[in-house]
Amino acid sequence: MNNPLFRELVSNFDINLTIKEIAAYGTGHINDTYLVKTIPEEAPDYMLQRKNHKIFKNVPGMMKNIVITTDHIRRKLIAEGVAEVDRKVMTYIAAKDGQMFVNDAEGNYWTLFQFIADCRVVENIQRPEQAFRAARAFGHFQQQLADLSGEMLIETIPNFHNGISRLNDFKLSISQDIAERVNENQLLINKILDRSTEMTALQRGLNDKTLPLRITHNDTKINNILFDQDNNALCIIDLDTVMPGSALYDFGDAIRTLGNKAPEDEPDLEKIVFNQEIYEAFTQGYLSEAKTFLTKAEIDQLPFSCRYMAWEQAMRFFTDYLNGDTYYKTDYEGHNLVRTKAQIRYLEVLEENRAVMEGIVNKS
Ligand SMILES: Nc1ncnc2c1ncn2[C@@H]1O[C@H](COP(=O)(O)OP(=O)(O)O)[C@@H](O)[C@H]1O
Ligand SMILES: [Mg+2]
Repeated sequence: MNNPLFRELVSNFDINLTIKEIAAYGTGHINDTYLVKTIPEEAPDYMLQRKNHKIFKNVPGMMKNIVITTDHIRRKLIAEGVAEVDRKVMTYIAAKDGQMFVNDAEGNYWTLFQFIADCRVVENIQRPEQAFRAARAFGHFQQQLADLSGEMLIETIPNFHNGISRLNDFKLSISQDIAERVNENQLLINKILDRSTEMTALQRGLNDKTLPLRITHNDTKINNILFDQDNNALCIIDLDTVMPGSALYDFGDAIRTLGNKAPEDEPDLEKIVFNQEIYEAFTQGYLSEAKTFLTKAEIDQLPFSCRYMAWEQAMRFFTDYLNGDTYYKTDYEGHNLVRTKAQIRYLEVLEENRAVMEGIVNKS
């Protein structure tokens, strides 16, 4: 795929390189990623990535966040005398006009960053050991950013994990009842509403500053970590959703999927079981880094954050269902309702395991 368009895009970035070939790369399903192979062989390769500006409506703001974040981490790594800094933090290249992206004729946003060679991506966590390593890597990422205030960054997706505004959206979908699905789901609706005071405490804590506003990754999946050949985490990637938020979001969201033995749209509620082994390994890995900077209030609320993220996600699926399935892609009629029920069941499972989860945090 030596399309002259790609070559022209790359030529608009402020870097001297000789392109050997450009080819589609990887498994990401948000952005389109291409590997730009260069000559000579030993020169670094690059990745050309089209940012999905349907999801990320403010690409310039997103790139500002990424530059502030990666510059901060890079300065730290250099000061600490860490070897091979370019393998431990992403290096984005500026365009010749000084912006961090290049627009094509169709208004798409393209970015260029250094390819980190000889590394592996893990798609799914199978073993507790992997959960430990992944959590330690995300904890380390947060630790590197802990002395940078969240106020420095832009909320590229406004109110992304704001429980108060998500709840307002949910209530609006109930009062509008566009798809006429409210009546038959009243009991389920109450399960969300009954927990609203407990759950909105996270946002109230951020508002009254009893919880610090930090910088969070917001996509803490294991395939957003590059590992070296010995399974040591090298670098956190996919920084598009880096923005101000609570450290609790990243922990809770990871456990929202990792702590559940069933997929998030499991129709058989009996199969929704807490994965204590993985939760324990993840908590230990995360706290091995994060205990150095988290406040007591944050540590105490780690188990709560898992319930919060499950509640928020249940509410988002439910809102979409009540609105007539306009946001999430669905595979069958009622898919969003199945997701909602599975997420609420998982929330109940987490509630049943509350003491166990708190015990694990305390001992970690
Ligand atoms: N700096 C990098 N070095 C090497 N591989 C990378 C780098 N950044 C991304 N990748 C690879 O490209 C894939 C997609 O990139 P990512 O930014 O995660 O896009 P998406 O948002 O679509 O998930 C990753 O899963 C990884 O395999
Ligand atoms: Mg990714």
